[in-house]
Amino acid sequence: MTEQNAAPQNGAEQQKKTVFSGVQPSGKLTLGNYLGALRNWPAMQEENRCIFSVVNLHSITVRQDPAALRRQTLEVLAQYIACGIDPEKSLLFIQSHVPAHAELAWVLNCYTMFGELSRMTQFKDKSQRYADNINAGLFTYPVLMASDILLYQTDLVPVGQDQKQHVEIARDIAQRFNGVYGPVFAIPEPLIQGPGAKIASLAEPTKKMSKSDQNQNAFVLLMDKPEDIMRKFKRAVTDSGSQVVRGEGKDGVNNLIAIYSAAAGCSPEQTEAEFAGKGYGEFKQAVGEAVVEVLRPVREQTERLLADKAYLEQVYAEGARQAARAAERTLEKVYKKVGFVKKPF
Ligand code: TYM
Repeated sequence: MTEQNAAPQNGAEQQKKTVFSGVQPSGKLTLGNYLGALRNWPAMQEENRCIFSVVNLHSITVRQDPAALRRQTLEVLAQYIACGIDPEKSLLFIQSHVPAHAELAWVLNCYTMFGELSRMTQFKDKSQRYADNINAGLFTYPVLMASDILLYQTDLVPVGQDQKQHVEIARDIAQRFNGVYGPVFAIPEPLIQGPGAKIASLAEPTKKMSKSDQNQNAFVLLMDKPEDIMRKFKRAVTDSGSQVVRGEGKDGVNNLIAIYSAAAGCSPEQTEAEFAGKGYGEFKQAVGEAVVEVLRPVREQTERLLADKAYLEQVYAEGARQAARAAERTLEKVYKKVGFVKKPF
């Protein structure tokens, strides 16, 4: 992105909203990550000041294999670009390269209540799933996420439905801090877009599609081969009915309708009209084909980018430099407000 985009601006530039979002590199990205988040981001970079981070600090709240984490971090960066995020227009960086995230998180930990963190549904889910490793990082994870967002004076946070609660706590923390010290942080809003905002597991459609699912047939990966994608959709759980319409208790079909609509860029009503009178078998085939077609260019472009490590390094180095500058400005303000002696260098 151009240098100006990371800094406060005059005139027209000042009208632009700041957009921030991130994806954890804790595994391979799924169709849920794509339809709920990444797919919506490129369109935002024309009108807004966009910042997208690969949030690797968040990933270590669950044990990671170090070599895999490093590889996946670059893969997510490549996937951002492959999905259409242009490093000339948006700021792309790796979270651990900007120390201000961890520094602000410490301060905000002291302005976040134990009770409000205890109510986070993701903490409750993950502490059940990883019962042998309920670490403090898992508990304060939303505070780090609030720091990501608040450091850049973010207005909009485009995320899937599952992250809404975390953006809301970021708002609460910002309001609390501003209430004590005056207007330090912009108050961010979650932006939950379209039918892809909540993609469910193909095997157990009452659960969200997640990269950490043990069942390989529950999720589609961005890097899956077409034949694997088709097989997973053929096996997708539906119900005993036969019509392609949404309804109570039809979680599997509701999910397939959401996926088709998000992939084909139409509304769920249009999808129902298109498949009126057709059976589940034909519909599943069509959903698979639509997904294969949207993911094909993303997969191919990711592979090309991963073969060019020098380019990726150039992108994340420049991103880190600009992000650090923007983040430092907010951190300095915060440090001053809470009473820290100004840094001598
Ligand atoms: P993460 O890495 O789990 O997911 C990245 C994005 O994908 C969306 N998503 C989904 N959308 C629809 N259906 C699904 N099944 C699905 N699964 C995932 C998520 O909502 C998210 O938008 N805590 C965040 C990462 C984060 C962040 C941030 C996001 C850290 N700091 C600051 C925004 C702003 C997370 O774990 O997302």
